[in-house]
Amino acid sequence: MATEKPHAKGRVKPGDTTQSVGMEQIAARGVNVKALVEKLIDAAGAEFTTYYYYTILRMYLAGKEDYKEICEDARLEDRAHFELITPRIYELGGSLPRDIRVFADRSSCPDAYLPEEPTAANILEVLLEAERCAIRTWNEVCDMTAGKDPRTYDMAARILNEEIEHEAWFIELLSMERDGVVRPSGHFRRGTPGEAPYSKNTAFYNP
Ligand SMILES: [Fe+2]
Ligand SMILES: [Fe+2]
Repeated sequence: MATEKPHAKGRVKPGDTTQSVGMEQIAARGVNVKALVEKLIDAAGAEFTTYYYYTILRMYLAGKEDYKEICEDARLEDRAHFELITPRIYELGGSLPRDIRVFADRSSCPDAYLPEEPTAANILEVLLEAERCAIRTWNEVCDMTAGKDPRTYDMAARILNEEIEHEAWFIELLSMERDGVVRPSGHFRRGTPGEAPYSKNTAFYNP
């Protein structure tokens, strides 16, 4: 009798299209797939709504071309984050809400509203806090998947790399604009707007 090979383990039968080995294997390693999918939908909602709100915030940075450009990089990179993570939701058996209102409401981050008094400093503070929420979210996804779901972990870590950069940019700008204090982020500029060096320029993601 042939010995069972390690790669043959699992309960998905040949030809069964109702289940996926991709999901079976991460579940077997301890991922709560249902909870992960819900988390990813909330996180995708935050990326998508932030992309929308940053469009408005960028408009109101009128006259501050350097701030505008950096806001634009963060805006386009949030769209890249939405694009990167959305297919993974479907791979894991989930789907985006049919109604965009439901999607926006379940965003894992608060709405990045244009401030009542849209000064550059106030806008930069909204941008900074949105990035901080994104860092918390993607760290949580990393925690849920580390050592168990390499694919989701890789995506979340790529996004997290950019969110951490975004926070550093807005700390630098807000600190200077509001307090006159230099706190360098180590950033110069993206090669092209919204370059997304971690989340977009990858072998598996080439829109
Ligand atoms: Fe993002
Ligand atoms: Fe961001």
